Amino acid sequence: MNLTQKHILLTGASRGIGLALAEQCARRKAHLHLVSRKLDPSLVKDLGSLGAASVTLWPFDLSQTSDVEGLVKSLEEKNISIDVLINNAGLLTGGILEEQDPDEIDKMLNVNVHALIRLTRRLLPGMLARKQGLIVNNASVSGKMFFPCASTYAASKAAVVAFTECLKQELRGTGVATVLMITPGVKTEMFDDISKLYGKHLDVSFLSHIPVEEWAAKVIAAMENDEAIVWPQGASFFGVKLAHHFPSVFEKIVRSKFNRFL
Ligand SMILES: NC(=O)c1ccc[n+]([C@@H]2O[C@H](COP(=O)([O-])OP(=O)(O)OC[C@H]3O[C@@H](n4cnc5c(N)ncnc54)[C@H](OP(=O)(O)O)[C@@H]3O)[C@@H](O)[C@H]2O)c1
Repeated sequence: MNLTQKHILLTGASRGIGLALAEQCARRKAHLHLVSRKLDPSLVKDLGSLGAASVTLWPFDLSQTSDVEGLVKSLEEKNISIDVLINNAGLLTGGILEEQDPDEIDKMLNVNVHALIRLTRRLLPGMLARKQGLIVNNASVSGKMFFPCASTYAASKAAVVAFTECLKQELRGTGVATVLMITPGVKTEMFDDISKLYGKHLDVSFLSHIPVEEWAAKVIAAMENDEAIVWPQGASFFGVKLAHHFPSVFEKIVRSKFNRFL
């Protein structure tokens, strides 16, 4: 899809991967609708100077169903038709299950899964009526390869993978398409939190990361070239393929890095 002049709703736009995607979309002269709990007003000027056709800030908390509905209602009241929905907002949970905070798990599932599904469900009818649209969902290598300390986060990302793959098939021939991001380690605040959350029981030194701009450029290229899935490269791609084709080898490697009795 050509992104110029398109109305793009991008969640989790305040920093990290979302901000890098917003900058790329601005350079393509798109209308940006940015969602996060906290949004710096300077984003309007900064993204405008990169070329954005317009920038609108939507400060909503996607862990609250009422906020997700409030966002949809606000878009409807302003007669804004969204051409591209990028479900990027996410939270990280981690550690052995009994040490994870149940309320944090619920909040993470609300943002990573429930808000993503609800927003897609609410914006899809408009896209179908216009016979044009793109839904981009940020999953993770954690949705494809499973290791200890990632149980709840991996479950959320596996849900995003399954949801997007099913939707892709439902939408064939409608003019609306999906893009699934199998996001590798990307150097953001969230990546820095991995060692804090997982590090007590898991040696995370094997996790690699790439610069945020590199991943954002790959995602935008996939959106522009009608590719349904964005795979990582290098060690992350190898890890995903190993986990899929040789699960017992993958599990043996991971087991050597895990110690629950600490
Ligand atoms: N970085 C990685 O290594 C990596 C790997 C695989 C997948 N991912 C996925 O990539 C996506 C972006 O991650 P990131 O690394 O860029 O993380 P990040 O730097 O922590 O950014 C997360 C974004 O989500 C927003 N967000 C969090 N909770 C929210 C809520 N309740 N309501 C609205 N917005 C909320 C944050 O804004 P506010 O805090 O202002 O609300 C922020 O803009 C996530 O879905 C993550 O799971 C990341």
